[in-house]
Amino acid sequence: MKMLTTCLAATVLVLSACHSAGDLSTKTQNQSQPMEENITKSPFGTLPDGTSVDLYTLTNKNGLEAKITNYGGIVVSLKTPDRNGKFEDIVLGYDSLAQYVADNPYFGAIVGRYGNRIAKGRFTLEGKTYTLAKNNGENHLHGGLKGFDKAVWEASPFKANGGVSLTLSRISPDMEEGYPGNLELRVIYSLTNDDKFQIEYSAASDKSTHINLTHHSYFNLTGNAKRDILGHVLNINSRAYMPVDSGLIPLGFYKMLAGTPFDFQQPKPIGQDINAADEQLKFGQGYDHCWVLTREAAAIPDGKMFLAATVYEPESGRVMEISTTEPGIQFYSGNFLDGKYKGKGGVVYQDRWGFCLETQHMPDSPNHPEYPPTVLSPGFIYSSATVHKFSVK
Ligand code: BGC
Repeated sequence: MKMLTTCLAATVLVLSACHSAGDLSTKTQNQSQPMEENITKSPFGTLPDGTSVDLYTLTNKNGLEAKITNYGGIVVSLKTPDRNGKFEDIVLGYDSLAQYVADNPYFGAIVGRYGNRIAKGRFTLEGKTYTLAKNNGENHLHGGLKGFDKAVWEASPFKANGGVSLTLSRISPDMEEGYPGNLELRVIYSLTNDDKFQIEYSAASDKSTHINLTHHSYFNLTGNAKRDILGHVLNINSRAYMPVDSGLIPLGFYKMLAGTPFDFQQPKPIGQDINAADEQLKFGQGYDHCWVLTREAAAIPDGKMFLAATVYEPESGRVMEISTTEPGIQFYSGNFLDGKYKGKGGVVYQDRWGFCLETQHMPDSPNHPEYPPTVLSPGFIYSSATVHKFSVK
């Protein structure tokens, strides 16, 4: 395919400047004293096919630290301080590459080509029907059997004004996992000196395709996953969510939140209503639904940054605010963590020990022309960004 000559990310977003990747790695490796903000690279392991994979450590000037591997673009750890200044890891994951390869419920990964579900694993685009893997019952989930979470990305660290960044890029070939079009992808992770962990996605395709990229960290703000996440206080900037069928495919309409267990318009502990007698909670075994962000109330259109959700963990004091350019957010309360995942430091992740807030377009959009569109046509650039801002109170 014709490679884009411009820096995709810079064309789209202004969160970070586009720099040449090479300089920083050389500078940081040659320095005996670490810089205030820093990025280093170390080996993370070797895949069964012999490919070597790396781990990048991004540190900002306040000591926040993100470790990211170029296998699946996985955020392996993210350390932030509690209200006493104690740094702990706030995402679930594994210690080794082998564990990620063996069985990963998308811990920390880049999810694509289409994050979330596509009903019956098919869609019709420009008169042609495409068949995708049914890897979630009779539906397609998170890009298929070998989605972007299992791909090896090319990585280039760089330093931008006010932080450190890692660009991950790859070309998803035409018909990969059944999706049309060679898709040139770029994802930039940045850790800024004002304690933001941000993700910028951009892509271009040589054929019309569908795209819906998201990030799949399971957060647990207690730090080092001490217990379940039911005490975390959540506020979602939304007045409506998308009810689903028993296979978690949206029924096709929005339901107002008021008076339902799904109402997080005011901050509320995740556990407060999670066991309410509600068919929708039964289908998801808890929360596993897409909330429609209330942009119109703030007069902020899709594509512009909008504060989507705030999470507060009372014991540690940690606060995470998530802003996004996306129209929706999937709140998944870790209902399928059932004690079978032995995570970092040997901690076994039980039911609801992590939650995901996946910024995205609506699930099954390829089969719903009435939803905000997810088609990417040749000559256009897909762009999306999400910022996680950390603080304490
Ligand atoms: C989905 C869940 C799924 C989880 C892990 C989430 O994004 O909404 O239904 O179990 O990912 O695959």
